[in-house]
Amino acid sequence: MQNFNFQNPVKIIFGKGTIGKIGPEAAKAGKKALLVYGGGSIKKNGVYEAVIKTLTENGIAVVEHAGVKPNPALGHVREGVKKAKAEKCGFIVAAGGGSVIDESKAIAAGALYAGDVWDFFSGKAQVREALPLFTVLTLPATGSEMNSGCVVTNEDTKQKYSAGGAALFPRASVLDPETTMSLPAAQVANGAVDAIAHIIEGYFTTTDADNAVTDELVHGLARSVIASTERIMKDPADYNARAAMMWSATLALNGLASCGYGGGSFINHAIEHSLSAIYDIAHGAGLAIVMPAWFKHHLRTAGPARLEKFGRCVFGAGSAGETIAAFEAFFKKTGAPVRLAEAGIPAADIPAIAGNAMGLIRAWGIKYTQPEVEKILADAV
Ligand code: NZQ
Ligand code: ZN
Repeated sequence: MQNFNFQNPVKIIFGKGTIGKIGPEAAKAGKKALLVYGGGSIKKNGVYEAVIKTLTENGIAVVEHAGVKPNPALGHVREGVKKAKAEKCGFIVAAGGGSVIDESKAIAAGALYAGDVWDFFSGKAQVREALPLFTVLTLPATGSEMNSGCVVTNEDTKQKYSAGGAALFPRASVLDPETTMSLPAAQVANGAVDAIAHIIEGYFTTTDADNAVTDELVHGLARSVIASTERIMKDPADYNARAAMMWSATLALNGLASCGYGGGSFINHAIEHSLSAIYDIAHGAGLAIVMPAWFKHHLRTAGPARLEKFGRCVFGAGSAGETIAAFEAFFKKTGAPVRLAEAGIPAADIPAIAGNAMGLIRAWGIKYTQPEVEKILADAV
């Protein structure tokens, strides 16, 4: 087990009927909020109404920044930064999924920065300060509600890059599982695949596999995500399955599931971000395509030990090959695509996708070459 630091300051308010608790939390930060949300799901499922009610009751004036798209776009982030500055918003309230929260983090940093917000993503500047952020999560997937990272796509250059910094941790996040009951089946699938991706990255790329506590946490989270998703698919109104899924996805990327895994990398994410940057497909869908192919690469280069252990503990699989097949079978069962063609991506594009991925691979300090990435993608055909 390698040395590590773990610090997570986010206050989680979890459970049925808890949206009303975000107003009192936000009121500690000021009197004027930028309310960030997406394409309108929160207006259909009652979340918008509940958020406005609690903010108003707590004396908070609201400036709206709506229309965040899945895979949030830099142009819309820049508009949000302009609005937050012009309206002198003291803090941000994000209501939605990972895209809404990520765009809110970028705006929070950009609002206190004199330069262009993309500087934080291109590596030109570090996030040192940001407006306080409060979130109401409606989609279990990214962990953004309890971490300090965010991902934005530069639509001109087709770069889907990340930024991070301690100032971007939300102050408080409300997780009300009932808000997730309105999710379409495809978003349930995307969320499940993303949560699985977050725990397998560290587990399979660690340089130190002798770490019982984090291994068991990963196995347990994976079993919980899989079992909860299967229950949700059978009965979308199953509250306890929604609750277990929501908390599992948060725990999957709040720092806990990688403690002591020195030297790990987010290679599946680095490759996937190119799929969503170029083709604007959902992050979870892209991961369901990349992961089975990457596991084959892992087996070729690192051997069967980790696949055997994970497979034995999570799927009851008897070999590395069976583990890879079990991952793929679970992704398929959720309805996620598992091959490039299923997402309409032609095999002829592989060199361009791999070329795009190399930008993030270098930025994240991962030691992969373009031919290796091309070979992985060739296994996803
Ligand atoms: O825009 P609205 O109308 O709200 O609809 C959204 C969107 O169309 C809809 N939705 C969300 N909650 C709903 C709902 N529909 C009905 N009922 C609800 N309760 O779902 C669609 C997808 O939303 P989005 O926020 O894009 O999904 P997700 O939470 O999966 O976020 C994906 C983004 O997060 C990034 C991804 O790359 C992608 O850009 N990630 C962020 C990370 C982080 N900050 O730590 C880590 C991840 O690895 C990931 O990269
Ligand atoms: Zn992810």
